Amino acid sequence: FATLKQSAQSGAPLYLQLRKSIEDAVNRGLIGPGDALPSERDIASKADISRVTVRKAVQDLVKGGILVQRHGSGTFVAPRMERVEQSLSRLTSFTEDMARRGMAVRSAWLDRGLYAPSPDEMMVLGLSSNELVARVARLRIANDTPLAIERAALSASVLPDPAAIGSSLYAALETTGRRPVRAVQRISAANLGDDDARLLEVPPGIAGLHIERISYLASGKVIEFTRSIYRGDAYDFVAELRLS
Ligand code: GLP
Repeated sequence: FATLKQSAQSGAPLYLQLRKSIEDAVNRGLIGPGDALPSERDIASKADISRVTVRKAVQDLVKGGILVQRHGSGTFVAPRMERVEQSLSRLTSFTEDMARRGMAVRSAWLDRGLYAPSPDEMMVLGLSSNELVARVARLRIANDTPLAIERAALSASVLPDPAAIGSSLYAALETTGRRPVRAVQRISAANLGDDDARLLEVPPGIAGLHIERISYLASGKVIEFTRSIYRGDAYDFVAELRLS
């Protein structure tokens, strides 16, 4: 923190600079989960800034889930969330994946409805411009921790009432004999934008995973086109590789 005052000329408000230096220290592992942060007074005097500034930075980090405050005992680096290990070799649903781990699953609706398809939805789902697309966008939550934002698109002929899927899209598709049997999944790195970060309750800009799943019926017809953002700090995707 000692270098903070010297870099004050850089223009960013001091509390933002302090917030960043604490964040950097956590990200670089200089202070780890459960470690206590020095007291407000110590940080203020070391960095030669006011306690109000320190408090503002710390409060921001508490809101962002980086730090936790325990009354009477101080401020600590938040425990790292237990990572979810997700196999890449099975075509499962979020509900099944979490239920298998004994986690309580729920979703918050972000969007559901029928829309004129976008060009990529038309292409992937094989829709013509006079057909509609059913969009189902959800924040997926396990044990009260938001893990992913999933935006699924299906042909409206498959899902005429997107609001009726209940808690599991795959379970709903199964009831009409349209559960996908094969999927191609593409995973790429993405930094979380402000809106996604807010929904996922993580600081904006942290690493996320963009996952695109195109899934197929046994007939070869595309049934689902889903684009998701998963929390990079929560997921490990694991595939077993064999010498063929
Ligand atoms: C996974 C997949 C999504 C799929 C979803 C269905 O999370 N990434 O592509 O739409 O499962 O989950 P559920 O049946 O719980 O709605």
